[in-house]
Amino acid sequence: MKSFIRRWVFPNSSREYLRRYNQAFAAETEPGMRVLDAGAGEQPYRPFFDHCTYESADFEMVDKPYARSTYVCDLADIPTEDNLFDRIVFNQVLEHIPEPDKVLAELYRVTRPGGRIICTCPFYYEEHEKPYDFYRYTQFAHRHIFARAGFEIDRLEWLEGYFGTLGYQFQTMAHRLPASPSRYLKKPWWPVLFWPLLLLVKGSAALLAALFYRLDLACKITDRGHPKNYVILARKPA
Ligand SMILES: C[S@@+](CC[C@H](N)C(=O)[O-])C[C@H]1O[C@@H](n2cnc3c(N)ncnc32)[C@H](O)[C@@H]1O
Repeated sequence: MKSFIRRWVFPNSSREYLRRYNQAFAAETEPGMRVLDAGAGEQPYRPFFDHCTYESADFEMVDKPYARSTYVCDLADIPTEDNLFDRIVFNQVLEHIPEPDKVLAELYRVTRPGGRIICTCPFYYEEHEKPYDFYRYTQFAHRHIFARAGFEIDRLEWLEGYFGTLGYQFQTMAHRLPASPSRYLKKPWWPVLFWPLLLLVKGSAALLAALFYRLDLACKITDRGHPKNYVILARKPA
């Protein structure tokens, strides 16, 4: 039921674009190449790298399910030699890193010359995996910190379009608006009005979320509004 709702009612365009970008990154990764999934969590993109030697690193400090990590470590100190990995997969992790320069320098160290990295990172997203949620980055911040670590950026773009950001905002409204009349007003007549109003507002928000997520998949608008995530494709110079 949950996956039916996810797929058909709230298709969540970010999840779909994350899948597409990672799949494309995996498709241009040659068989046998060595891949590090840095901050891998449940390793959602691991199946895309079945043709490679896949390893993962995560500090496993958040109260949530983890897939088994190759390295249980802080990404600022990965226990491997230099220049080991052909590809680094770094999804939705950078915002959780208190000292990003250290981690990018470490990822640079373990990447072989000519090796590539995919990084996705939220720009507009609620605080999550607390208390390990430190920053939101503009595109200019990404350029700055990746260049400072030594990476050359091939592409930096919006992960999803503005409709995706709107879909997310309406989804949040549908899920998070308090459903208790006393949170808004303390009048004896208020509950009578409140329930139909809440149903109308939450129902409309849910419908608009589904609509905007679908629109985002059909038509990715990136020259208006603001993105929910950025995606960065970069390389360590050969
Ligand atoms: C939002 S999750 C993303 C997981 C996975 N990459 C994905 O796309 O589903 C962030 C992950 O980064 C890991 N993480 C956060 N800070 C870390 C650190 N300093 N060192 C290692 N892992 C870290 C967390 O444990 C978590 O699994």
